[in-house]
Amino acid sequence: MDNLKNLRGTVDILPSQLIKWQNIENIIKLQLSRSSVKEIRTPILEMTELFSRGIGENTDVVSKEMYTFKDRGDRSCTMRPEGTASVVRAVINNGLLSQQKLWYLGPMFRYERPQAGRQRQFHQFGVEFIGYENYRSDVEIICLAWDILQKLGIKDLNLELNSLGNSKDRQIYHKFFLEWLKKNYSLLDIDSQKRVDKNPMRIFDSKNKDTIRILEEAPRLIDFLSNESLKRYSQIKEQLDFLNIPFKENFSLVRGLDYYTHTAFEITSGSLGSQATVCGGGRYDNLIELMGGKRTPAIGFAIGLERLLLLAGDEYESDRIVDIYIVNQGQKAENLAIDLSRRLRDLNIITELDISCASFSKQLKKANKLKAKSIIIIGEEEAIKKEFLVRLFNENDQDNKQKTISFDNFGELENWVKTNLKTYSRK
Ligand code: HAM
Repeated sequence: MDNLKNLRGTVDILPSQLIKWQNIENIIKLQLSRSSVKEIRTPILEMTELFSRGIGENTDVVSKEMYTFKDRGDRSCTMRPEGTASVVRAVINNGLLSQQKLWYLGPMFRYERPQAGRQRQFHQFGVEFIGYENYRSDVEIICLAWDILQKLGIKDLNLELNSLGNSKDRQIYHKFFLEWLKKNYSLLDIDSQKRVDKNPMRIFDSKNKDTIRILEEAPRLIDFLSNESLKRYSQIKEQLDFLNIPFKENFSLVRGLDYYTHTAFEITSGSLGSQATVCGGGRYDNLIELMGGKRTPAIGFAIGLERLLLLAGDEYESDRIVDIYIVNQGQKAENLAIDLSRRLRDLNIITELDISCASFSKQLKKANKLKAKSIIIIGEEEAIKKEFLVRLFNENDQDNKQKTISFDNFGELENWVKTNLKTYSRK
């Protein structure tokens, strides 16, 4: 029988790769907890309407990329393509519309053409500030994303910024933009032509080179913003300058989701190739009301973890090293070894128990391969005497601090560990 393959655009993340994932996730979580942002977990499966209403029917995500199916109760369900709509639903349903700073991390699903940095099941970590209107929350959100990427040592980053104004600004702009689109209709690609009547702003998402070039001559939304919206935008730019966070304005940055108002931003990296955007975010002051909650301003961002991993250096690939490797042989020794490994783990000592029943020399080879800091040896003779041998596992070290310890005197092993294993700390 043929081996079953995994679905296109999905990958297994293997133990050797997970070390890097976990190291990076730990740094992100530490930075978030230092910033008083709290975790929220929402279901992967949601009602389809959550996304079609929240993200917008005419976006690529909703119209082309969602994993949608009917469940056995004939309800239309969708595997979440992003986290913002779900967080908004959760805060409305759970009465959390007062100021909340929230983060999430997990798999998202989009039926896109897979390539480097783009998968059908991918992972995002995102942050949403609910109930914050002041421009300083925009600055704090951008700082949070920027600082996490800096903490991880990611180089060659560009922050791009734009303002999409409020609904009124966009209504005025739409009139002029639509006129321009009708004049240039024949020059647009077919997909963009279809969007003229349905949702003209989405034409900015076009990947067609000719459309992109033509759009450079289109009226710019930034020129239609009210004084109030422009003031808000200037305040953000001034504050970013003050904080020495470099940014570039990009007036055609509209983001591929319908819910944005005012601030829109992306962080890209020159090292990522065609899928260059590692972080995307912005303000969405109308979304909560659109989803049935009371009008509440909000802002957030999400970072794609696969892209982040491509950018992060090798230094995140090293695992915590095994403190003690237990080499054992013979029925009696094996039983004592299990007991000992449990007691050692209780002391926060990373312990690898050899359960291979292989020869001593094979077990020692494995300990060497894992670069274990020390080994415990329990042979049949030691087991009869109810003792074991502990020593540092450095073959070049003559003075390897060898000691025979009785099972009844576990405290002696604890003292040995304290003296000889530098990283040991009892929690
Ligand atoms: P987004 O720009 O659609 O925004 O996605 C954010 C990030 O997720 C992208 O910059 C990218 O790093 C990653 N990403 C997206 N699609 C894929 C894919 N197919 N494969 C790998 N990585 C991918 C959002 O999702 C918004 N919810 C962000 C947000 C939060 N806005 C406000 N709050």
